[in-house]
Amino acid sequence: MVSKITVKAPSSTANLGPGFDVFGLAIDAFYDVVTLTKTKNGITIVTNDDIPTNPENNTAGLVVKNMKKKFRIKDGVEIKIKKGVPAGFGMGSSAASAAATAVAFDKLFGLKLDGNSLVEFAGSGEKASAGSVHYDNVAASVLGGFVIVKTNPLDVIRVEPPTNLRMCIAVPKLDVPKKKTKVSRGVIPKKINLTDSVLNISNAAGIVAGFMRKDPDLIGNSIKDVIVEPARQHMIPGFLKVKENALKAGALGVTISGAGPSVIAFSKSSANLKKISIAMSKGFASANTKCQTVICKPSKGAADKRK
Ligand code: HSE
Repeated sequence: MVSKITVKAPSSTANLGPGFDVFGLAIDAFYDVVTLTKTKNGITIVTNDDIPTNPENNTAGLVVKNMKKKFRIKDGVEIKIKKGVPAGFGMGSSAASAAATAVAFDKLFGLKLDGNSLVEFAGSGEKASAGSVHYDNVAASVLGGFVIVKTNPLDVIRVEPPTNLRMCIAVPKLDVPKKKTKVSRGVIPKKINLTDSVLNISNAAGIVAGFMRKDPDLIGNSIKDVIVEPARQHMIPGFLKVKENALKAGALGVTISGAGPSVIAFSKSSANLKKISIAMSKGFASANTKCQTVICKPSKGAADKRK
């Protein structure tokens, strides 16, 4: 059996508008790389990045702790983490580390777990940063492609995205609060009215149909959220302008990526993606905010780095 394994896991965008906590899409914009090595005992974390190195407060550390306990593994594990996904910008940064770690642990100890179990363990690690468990980002990062998360019991449905689906993600240069996801979950309504729920469900259904039919236009024009996006948009300077500009430049749909503050525009490979990126940058500039834009496409899930 191997004594060391390196796994690379992608960034992801959660919600896709109306699919709050249910939809996730793995995107090839950024990757985290995690190397697990068997040691004599304990859990140690090695990193050059600015993340907690106490396993109890570290996403990857918690995943290893939970998996060691569940499978009664006595060996120690060294976790080497190289962050590529920026933390706190709505691209599933902690989820990528958790996903890479769960997949690496499974391979290192030959557990041969199924997708739902890997997602569950990865989700247990995400608790370290988000404060609560939601599986949309981890599911996308573990399995790749588009995912629908059913809970109680956890059951993740994966759909292969259209090959011509493209996204432009605009990452604003902002100072984000340390527990950003917790903060941005605090502003969303606890109760919603039936009319809004009907609208969001119809659009969520449209998104699923769009992925099943491999139809970026249907995906894009269903990215409409009347519940969470309106409650969170004040946290993103220039959001409405970024959205308006991207749509004018030809984007099919635009929304907050996960809990923000990044904004994601959906499009297809035949569109002028550069024009959409520039339009989004100008939107942020109108609120005196600089941003980085990345043109990306759906990614496969966490995998052995050599493959
Ligand atoms: N669905 C989550 C949210 C994703 O929007 O709060 C954040 O990681």
